[in-house]
Amino acid sequence: MKHLIPEFEKLKRRYPAGFESSLVLPCLHRIQDDRGYVADEDVDGLCAWLGVPRIQVEEVLSYYTMFRRSPVGRWHVQVCRNVSCSMRGAERLIGHVCRRLGVEPGTTTADGRFTVSTVECLGSCGTAPVMVVNEAYHENMDAAKADALLEGLK
Ligand code: FES
Repeated sequence: MKHLIPEFEKLKRRYPAGFESSLVLPCLHRIQDDRGYVADEDVDGLCAWLGVPRIQVEEVLSYYTMFRRSPVGRWHVQVCRNVSCSMRGAERLIGHVCRRLGVEPGTTTADGRFTVSTVECLGSCGTAPVMVVNEAYHENMDAAKADALLEGLK
């Protein structure tokens, strides 16, 4: 993350002195955009640069499920399994997607193309069940829609 420090310095100027911990979230987003995930060495570097305790960064990483701690495939398929989505067939959808791709939730296909994750509420309960592929939401999903979606991903 050292190459991001000049960007972080610019960002820091927008915050009042003494509020360095407020930079944790935007810096983690930028690190993940850059590397694809947040590595341990990124956490070490960010803590050292901000002068905040490691627990402060780790608790942000563990609370927000959008942060990844390991690499994912070209396509990161996240399927919500929270209440609204579960009531509208999320488990069937998760099972279908995993069978189709030949993976278990939380793993990546052998060719590195797809990672399937289950996540908590994606904030789109009214259109459950919901899948997010990379940054794009796909709502009111079912097995047929998931097949069509996955088929179109190159
Ligand atoms: S429960 Fe799935 S989007 Fe809210």
